[in-house]
Amino acid sequence: MHNWYGKEISDEIRQGVRDDLTMLNEIEKEEVRDWVVEAWATSLHFNNFSAIHELQGSGLKDHAVEKNGNQATHLNGVAMLAKAMGEVFLKKNPDFDIDIDIMIASALLHDVGKTIEFNMEKRELWMNEPWKEGTLGVPHTAYGYYICKLIGLPDYLCHVAMYHCREADGRKVFRSIYCDIVHRADYAYWHGLLILGALDPTYSYSEIHWAPYQSRMDFSHNWFKEIVGDRSECPDMKYDDTIPGLRKK
Ligand SMILES: [Fe+2]
Repeated sequence: MHNWYGKEISDEIRQGVRDDLTMLNEIEKEEVRDWVVEAWATSLHFNNFSAIHELQGSGLKDHAVEKNGNQATHLNGVAMLAKAMGEVFLKKNPDFDIDIDIMIASALLHDVGKTIEFNMEKRELWMNEPWKEGTLGVPHTAYGYYICKLIGLPDYLCHVAMYHCREADGRKVFRSIYCDIVHRADYAYWHGLLILGALDPTYSYSEIHWAPYQSRMDFSHNWFKEIVGDRSECPDMKYDDTIPGLRKK
């Protein structure tokens, strides 16, 4: 239990984290559940939020914004995906060194630094004095690493917060299995919502830009022919009769 800046983190914040992160119930070890709760409570407390669901449900502030969701929805979704992916590997080989508790905790913690990006006081500062403060002053990845490290979480969880996405410059870094799975689950989550039309069109990264040959309006257009050309002119070409519409020579 920590007391930061002379003000203790309230148990209401901790309970709010437990209420928001339903995937905590899938973690068996109490200590691991407590790591997630303490990290999120600290991050919320430092940035004047009282619950994860107060944070916009987006990939980055005002970018890839869910129509019906908040940041807790995202964390639970990524945790479900990551857990399923981890279980696939364990089914393949039970001896693989993957702890499902740590897998879920990694997913629930990966965006623990997003509070700084949603902190409106900070955003105003970055907007008004970017030459001095930078903008952003710090990405959520580095801030997430800082929060995890500050409260003494194991380095392998700090690593997930730091390197789960491209915002961290990890050119020389090799992701752990937890970090790599969370990275892919995170991107699959946002991209899946994009494809399914579940992102808010009033923000950036909300629409699919269909290639011209995939026009959904004009079905008379033969988009496949555009790609392969007219192969009847090519005598050596082997036609695959499993593809409808292609003649066999
Ligand atoms: Fe994320």
